[in-house]
Amino acid sequence: MRSNKNLAKIVELLNDGKFHNGTVIGQKLNISRTAVWKVIKKLKSYKITIKSLKNKGYCLDHPLILLEKEKIINPLKGSILIELFEKVTSTNDYLKTLSNNRYVVCIAEMQTKGKGRFNRTWHSPFAQNIYLSLKYSFNKDVSDLAGLSLVCGLSVCRAIETTCNLPKPIFIKWPNDIICDNKKLAGILIEIQAETNGFSSVIIGIGVNVNMKNSEQKINQTWTSLINLTECYYDRNELCTSLIYCLIYYLKIFKKRGLIFFQDSWKQKDYLFNKALNIKSGQKKFQGIGCGINHKGNLIVKLTNGLKKEFSSGDTTLIKNNYIL
Ligand code: BTN
Repeated sequence: MRSNKNLAKIVELLNDGKFHNGTVIGQKLNISRTAVWKVIKKLKSYKITIKSLKNKGYCLDHPLILLEKEKIINPLKGSILIELFEKVTSTNDYLKTLSNNRYVVCIAEMQTKGKGRFNRTWHSPFAQNIYLSLKYSFNKDVSDLAGLSLVCGLSVCRAIETTCNLPKPIFIKWPNDIICDNKKLAGILIEIQAETNGFSSVIIGIGVNVNMKNSEQKINQTWTSLINLTECYYDRNELCTSLIYCLIYYLKIFKKRGLIFFQDSWKQKDYLFNKALNIKSGQKKFQGIGCGINHKGNLIVKLTNGLKKEFSSGDTTLIKNNYIL
């Protein structure tokens, strides 16, 4: 569902925190009272708290800054197509339906089937966080894209660090969970579509927890958000601009120079380095100490038997107290 202009205008009016009468809103926006009522009903269905009083009208509990295409700056002077939706199943899945080879960014206010790695659900409430995917083409074979997910993680860190004044450093839990204060702040889901001519097209989906508060959402993971960390409400348009810019910039370097260029940056962000960890790879589970990455971006773990093993994929968790039996 494309962004709805009436919804944006009504939210803008209600953002002053005062009550607004439905008929007056309709007159101001030149739409019927029923059209106003439909938008209010829709906002309520998106779990936005709106007070309604018979004689006074509607009032928004908290101000909401919505995403606006005009506020998201296109870093490649228009050669990236940016598509903004009020609601999609998943921004990654939307990009999969496109056949053209242009760079396309899809951003949504909410996802009804937001997905994470390992088929997990990615919690995607309306107007609170960032759900952004980029479709990008490489003149490389899929086998040459090792390390891409790490580079995407580094670009997300950079985008967040340049836009927000975080009280604590951010790290990346291999391959690309963005961690702050030992909790997950953002996640990345990369889906690769091999093409026949030696080209590969990738869909990079980024979810950043922005204005979602701990007290309001129940998620089966230790997570945090920018508002929880800084107690500031963020304009997601600025963050989207920064994310797109950093992503494109890092991908261009990766295309030319490969993962080797990012080895030092990775060392500074490596959350698992020298830590006791569990890793589940396929059906197998291992324990060991994180020893950095190899030239392909695989995780090196010193196992409990003293041998080092390299993992190209897997789900990692830290062991409490950093202690292996
Ligand atoms: C993870 O850490 O498990 C990855 C989460 C990725 C979530 C983003 S939100 C935008 C894009 N669309 C999706 O359905 N998933 C990714």
